[in-house]
Amino acid sequence: MTLPDWAIHALGPPPEASDTARRVDALHAAVISTAFAGIGIVAIVTLYFVVRYRRRGPGEITPRVVASGRREWTTAALVLGLFISFWLVGYAQYLDIERPPDHAALVYVTAKQWMWKFGYPNGHASTDTLFVRERTPVHLVMTSRDVIHSFYAPGFRIKQDVLPGRWVSAWLDAAPAGSYPIYCAELCGVSHSRMRGEVRVLDAADYERWWHDGRDQDDMVLRGKSVAAQSGCLSCHTIDGQRHIGPSFAGLYRSTVTLDDGRTVLADEAYLTRSMMEPLADRVAGFNPVMPAYRNVLSAEEVGALVEMIRSLDHPAPPRVTLPSLEVTKLDGGTP
Ligand code: CUA
Repeated sequence: MTLPDWAIHALGPPPEASDTARRVDALHAAVISTAFAGIGIVAIVTLYFVVRYRRRGPGEITPRVVASGRREWTTAALVLGLFISFWLVGYAQYLDIERPPDHAALVYVTAKQWMWKFGYPNGHASTDTLFVRERTPVHLVMTSRDVIHSFYAPGFRIKQDVLPGRWVSAWLDAAPAGSYPIYCAELCGVSHSRMRGEVRVLDAADYERWWHDGRDQDDMVLRGKSVAAQSGCLSCHTIDGQRHIGPSFAGLYRSTVTLDDGRTVLADEAYLTRSMMEPLADRVAGFNPVMPAYRNVLSAEEVGALVEMIRSLDHPAPPRVTLPSLEVTKLDGGTP
């Protein structure tokens, strides 16, 4: 039986934009239908018992019914096994949703009352419209300028709180060309309901046009270098690998860093941005805690430029933005 369109829109989840959305929906359907089947079985058994064991005459005593221990244990084990299987599938999906793939394109997102701002590695910026190449996953590194917002792209089944003074990460799975809505899912002020945007997935030709329309992709790296010079980063951090007051930027990106409390972390975009905002939170072992916090000092675009600049300084990993037909290979500093 196929439901009419209006019923699907009223009752069902919005159309699926990605494989992640399809997997989430499949688990959701399995859990919901199992729950309804359980309700149905309990209702039927209840009705049967009501009829079967009803009192037939005055003075009749209801027989005592005792289930065998083995049957009870089997039922409990089956139900437990069912819930554990839901959990296993759900946990695998959760890990997928938490980990952006390495080849995802990177976009910096700044939420503010009441708009979404997007910054791209080629120096482009857009407001409320996130431009994406078709069938390409997108890694979003997000922060807020003011209050808590929540990035909600229902077609992708992704909802992530966006917090002031902190950088959080999310990713959108590859989608076919089209337009998918973005909402803010956290009450953030009087125009919260109007804080809407759109994921615009462009086909290869349109995306190439958009990508090249405007500034060159090297701009972001150059800008990062001038921001680093103006903001004083280069007084303590070198860009040639030499040890100074702070760790060198060269070779830092995607390296494993040992912190002074013994933990090791991967120096990815989220770590680099957090280290600028809150340098004392994750301190690298062997350096004095002298770096000031740059929260509210650097704009989101400046932070994005700095991260791009650090990424450009000789890292062994392949470039994160892989668009073979487009000339973006300079992003990895020339090492394939
Ligand atoms: Cu931003 Cu609600």
